[in-house]
Amino acid sequence: MEQTQVVLEVQNLVKRFDGLVAVDNLNFKVKKGRIHALIGPNGAGKTTTVNMITGDNPQTEGEVLFYGKSISKMPIYERASLGIGRTFQNIKLFSTMTVMENLLIGGQGKTTQNLLKYLANFKLAQREERQLREKAEEILNFIGMYKYKDEQVSNLAYGRQKMTELGRTLMGDPKLILLDEPAAGLNPSERKEFIDIIQKVFENNVDMFLIEHNMDVVMNLSHDITVLNFGCKIAEGDPKSILENEEVISAYLGEGYRKQMKKEAGQDA
Ligand SMILES: Nc1ncnc2c1ncn2[C@@H]1O[C@H](COP(=O)(O)OP(=O)(O)O)[C@@H](O)[C@H]1O
Ligand SMILES: [Mg+2]
Repeated sequence: MEQTQVVLEVQNLVKRFDGLVAVDNLNFKVKKGRIHALIGPNGAGKTTTVNMITGDNPQTEGEVLFYGKSISKMPIYERASLGIGRTFQNIKLFSTMTVMENLLIGGQGKTTQNLLKYLANFKLAQREERQLREKAEEILNFIGMYKYKDEQVSNLAYGRQKMTELGRTLMGDPKLILLDEPAAGLNPSERKEFIDIIQKVFENNVDMFLIEHNMDVVMNLSHDITVLNFGCKIAEGDPKSILENEEVISAYLGEGYRKQMKKEAGQDA
């Protein structure tokens, strides 16, 4: 039988902040062609895990492997150039700039230009900028944001800002995108739109690692789920097995959730 390719693997990952163990000996694998969700209560260590994967805040101990190769000691930009993209729990955009400008900044690492080359070869720089702009337009079309391209980010609804951030991430040609609570703060229609777009990006061969509280989103999108509590993995499996897992219910989902599930399934709670 053919093995599913492993996109991302974390091995014995530990993060300590002074006395606090935020992530405690974490292991999991993200497989190709599967949307992998990381869930758990606030403070469980989810964002810290993403920061160790991207290099934003490296591990205290352990390894991060991307397509089988250790990246744990690489700086952020090097990991990004290998194909690791992310969005942030709290949007990080230049809010006084336009949507287009934010995407162009996201694509900047991709041009060969530095200032010296730029001065030496103005024509080449112009061509690269034109190509970057065309790419940004294509991406904005793809995510349904083209008509907002010249809007200042601060004037956009929150859902549009989140979408802009996804667009900027796509400018880096990611193979894997780490989404840190993409649906938080979105209204139901924005949330549905976001799910559709994530699905569409995924179908274009970009793997997804998703941190999310909204169980609707998690259940709709993910194939595999890892559950964290106090920095430790307490469960792992497909959505159905996670929903039925006693430890997950008591640590995270709560009894109310179990009752709701039973009600929906037509059983007495
Ligand atoms: N930079 C930091 N310095 C000190 N403690 C931190 C830092 N970042 C996160 N923590 C702590 O680590 C734990 C895990 O945080 P975090 O990864 O943000 O959780 P989650 O994303 O699951 O809500 C929390 O107790 C948090 O207070
Ligand atoms: Mg977080």
